[in-house]
Amino acid sequence: MKVRTAVFPVAGLGTRLLPATKSIPKEMVTLIDKPLIQYAVEEVIAAGIERVIFVSARSKRALEDHFDYSPELEYQLEGNNKNELLEEMKRISEMCDITYVRQKNPKGLGHAVLCARDAVGREPFAVILPDDIIMSKTPVTAQLIEQFNQTKKSVISLMEVPEGDTSKYGIVVPGEKVNDRLMRLEGMVEKPKENPPSNLAIIGRYILTNEVMDALENIPRGAGGEIQLTDAILEVAKQSRVYGYHFEGKRFDCGNRFGLFEAAVNFALEREDMREHAMNVIKGMQI
Ligand code: G1P
Repeated sequence: MKVRTAVFPVAGLGTRLLPATKSIPKEMVTLIDKPLIQYAVEEVIAAGIERVIFVSARSKRALEDHFDYSPELEYQLEGNNKNELLEEMKRISEMCDITYVRQKNPKGLGHAVLCARDAVGREPFAVILPDDIIMSKTPVTAQLIEQFNQTKKSVISLMEVPEGDTSKYGIVVPGEKVNDRLMRLEGMVEKPKENPPSNLAIIGRYILTNEVMDALENIPRGAGGEIQLTDAILEVAKQSRVYGYHFEGKRFDCGNRFGLFEAAVNFALEREDMREHAMNVIKGMQI
């Protein structure tokens, strides 16, 4: 079955980015000149996704507005003959169909995904955590969909992390290798406080079968007292098969100021319209 739907849990408050996120959603924080959410939505569209579901909460209206038309702005851009900008603004509004569902209580990532159950229907779906911005030749969502098309099972993105960082992530128990990047998963544990089973962390890109929704219905609260997506995927791994994919690309945790800064430098150096300027700034610094 084709993966055509992506679920974006966007109900979190983003306290790690305060004060930037005091009155704007964290997904609207900008990386150079685009909000984080736009990078993530563009990534899934480049991977062939047709439907986007935002699991959102109160005070997230800016997200809806960003992907809607802005008549006053368009009128002004037209009047000033700023045609390129005008086209770009229209492109954002027409990018995709977005469905909004509400997560009324913050009960964790697993709960957020479960809130999208009816909107997703009985088909496989992607889950995208827009704090994780990934720079890669092929969009990571597309890399995962390619694996899903071959395995027909849930595939989650993996990256090696330093040993001291394992308690910040879902950490997997790697199983049999299918090839250099793809492996079967024997288990996984959300934010292990001690004895992590490996240094392979789950990153915020998943392709999941509907079995995960069934598991989410039934799992108890896990780490941090929250309903954890990792725990539901573990249940599916026990009964069926789940794969991990060591993706190609560089990931930035844009949910905190260090990652956001690192991403800004890297993206500026990658962008044709900014590379020279960024190089001159860096060269001119007496460090
Ligand atoms: C979530 C997941 C975790 C994963 C991480 C990746 O945690 O629960 O398994 O490793 O995203 O960014 P969060 O960072 O939302 O606490």
